Amino acid sequence: MLTFVDTPARTAAPSPNDTLVLLHAFPLNGHMWEEQRGFADRGWHVIAPHFSGFGGSDLVSETPSMDDYADAVIELLRELRVERAVLGGLSMGGYASLTIMRRAPELVRGLILADARSEADSLEGREGRSKMLALAREEGAEAVAQAMLPNLLGKTTRAKRARVVEYVHGMIRGTPPETIASAIYALLSRVDAADVLPQIAVPTLIIVGEEDTITPPAMSQSMKQAIANAELVTIEAAGHLSNLEQPQRFNDALAAFLDHRV
Ligand code: MLT
Repeated sequence: MLTFVDTPARTAAPSPNDTLVLLHAFPLNGHMWEEQRGFADRGWHVIAPHFSGFGGSDLVSETPSMDDYADAVIELLRELRVERAVLGGLSMGGYASLTIMRRAPELVRGLILADARSEADSLEGREGRSKMLALAREEGAEAVAQAMLPNLLGKTTRAKRARVVEYVHGMIRGTPPETIASAIYALLSRVDAADVLPQIAVPTLIIVGEEDTITPPAMSQSMKQAIANAELVTIEAAGHLSNLEQPQRFNDALAAFLDHRV
């Protein structure tokens, strides 16, 4: 079973369907949702799984697919007897969320896509992945952290929020290189999810950091246009890791969505 950061609802008689599942970005882990665990005080059972090999979990496969990542979450929800959860993911977690919407949409009653996109990798993107794969294998997690941090975090965070920079740096540094390599395989081999967007029938919140250069705001705008019941919130002074860089603004958007739309 997928391991996860577990924050049970801190209210009387919680319902299994008040489950908020948050899927992490690459190459982080479920602890990236630390600032969202407080939703337990509002009656949500907050579950932040670690994909295979992340967060100290066992590496199940060296060559997983995005379908494998999605299926592990689907299996977890079934094991926990959750009938319909609110599902959210940031970037790689968003790709996995869209894959779950393709494979088991009946398990989802609200969707959050943060700093994500539906497109598969471009040729240039695939070349970049190959270089990152070589870097992970030859030089390890610290080299990956050095290469990725300037893109993962927005310019405001890099200039003003040293604690966030160090937190993200530590999470990447602590990830085994073989786990990083396996996730690059899943990212590289994922299929385009544009066909899933018009099939999404649940309320959807799309969030993007205004300084996100990996999945820039235009990508979120085009997902919003393709999903019938979607709203888009742009987070000021945040880059790609919007939930970590501006947790209060991110949580305000999430709270409004959970209180009024699902
Ligand atoms: C992530 O944050 O999960 C990655 O940047 C996703 C990607 O590289 O496409």
